[in-house]
Amino acid sequence: MIASRSFTLLARQCLRRANAPQQWIPVLAQTQARFYSVPYEEKVAKFKGKKGSDGLYTVTLIEGDGIGPEISQSVKDIFAAAKAPIKWESADVTPQLKDGKTVIPDKAIDSVKTNYVALKGPLATPIGKGHVSLNLTLRRTFNLFANVRPCKSIAGYKTPYDNVDTVLIRENTEGEYSGIEHVVIDGVVQSIKLITKAASERVLRFAFQYAEDVGKLKVRAVHKATIMKMSDGLFLNTARRVAKDFPKVEFDAELLDNTCLKVVTDPTPYNDKVLVMPNLYGDILSDMCAGLIGGLGLTPSGNIGDECSIFEAVHGSAPDIAGKGLANPTALLLSSIMMLQHMELYEHADKIQKAIFDTLAEGKYLTGDLGGKAKTHEYAKAIMDKF
Ligand SMILES: NC(=O)c1ccc[n+]([C@@H]2O[C@H](COP(=O)([O-])OP(=O)(O)OC[C@H]3O[C@@H](n4cnc5c(N)ncnc54)[C@H](O)[C@@H]3O)[C@@H](O)[C@H]2O)c1
Repeated sequence: MIASRSFTLLARQCLRRANAPQQWIPVLAQTQARFYSVPYEEKVAKFKGKKGSDGLYTVTLIEGDGIGPEISQSVKDIFAAAKAPIKWESADVTPQLKDGKTVIPDKAIDSVKTNYVALKGPLATPIGKGHVSLNLTLRRTFNLFANVRPCKSIAGYKTPYDNVDTVLIRENTEGEYSGIEHVVIDGVVQSIKLITKAASERVLRFAFQYAEDVGKLKVRAVHKATIMKMSDGLFLNTARRVAKDFPKVEFDAELLDNTCLKVVTDPTPYNDKVLVMPNLYGDILSDMCAGLIGGLGLTPSGNIGDECSIFEAVHGSAPDIAGKGLANPTALLLSSIMMLQHMELYEHADKIQKAIFDTLAEGKYLTGDLGGKAKTHEYAKAIMDKF
């Protein structure tokens, strides 16, 4: 088994040898003979954590910047009130420069690796040269290959559509975001979209497995194989092959532009499907779906890896409202629900989720971004009062 990151690294190294093209073809060809393949009976990215002797699971908590500590506090309070069997282990991911590269402190890496799961608040990326996004660094460090973004309408918060319930799974490690860019000659740059069978198979297999787990028994691959015949073609052909291992799940494919048009015209036909796609398409389409339910402030996400997974709110650190008690913790809370589901703690997930949705539907304690006047802790208390 070989991780797709190895292909990406290899491809980068090969492509740097611009003067020796005869060298990189054989090297890549040697490696292509090995591909990621998981027998379909085996679950991809299964949570490997075990309860401690105190009956609790330890979860790494990266509170993050700006509003991160405030919304993390709400999660901690609500989990304690709901008696969720979780013990938090705080991790500091303030980036360090090691050999000219942005890295995460070893202590934080060890914590996530030991606990297999983390909940993460937003991290601010300093503007200026030389800073790699810490979010990207985390994805690369832990090889978090799938980004899962469910978008479900929230009763009590009126948007143009009342019954959105989409799930989008984005390949998270390669494609247009492989970071292979160079100047060919002055005024001409080239950016490589890297698609590997290994990474495609891994995310597709996860998407089918997820579809079975959540009972949305239709998977749709979103692509542009009509134009990008080789790269998207490989993704699509891999999807067709993986689909055969999941006979209970219906499979079809759709061109990205059609999907965009149809989702904004009427999202309802997408409620029974799991959409899966390469990196860039997923990045854009997932924000578009978030817009259908009221924006990023309400949208959770999970970054899934074979070893560990990190769940996070999609919004940023909101420096404009940090420290004022105005932040809405819903997105981080819903991310923590996804985390509980990943850990197969369904009873606790359902209990907390119901309390959140009931509080939002009542509309008495909404934060400012949803048109209410409640402070972060007042909204959290209203949720806790439901237990
Ligand atoms: N996943 C992440 O960690 C992540 C994602 C996006 C941006 N960022 C970082 O966050 C910083 C700020 O980015 P930005 O201003 O572009 O986006 P942002 O999401 O932080 O803020 C955009 C707007 O939405 C509001 N908002 C965001 N989350 C909210 C919440 N939970 N409750 C109420 N209002 C909320 C903010 O007040 C602001 O007006 C940057 O450094 C950026 O790099 C991090």
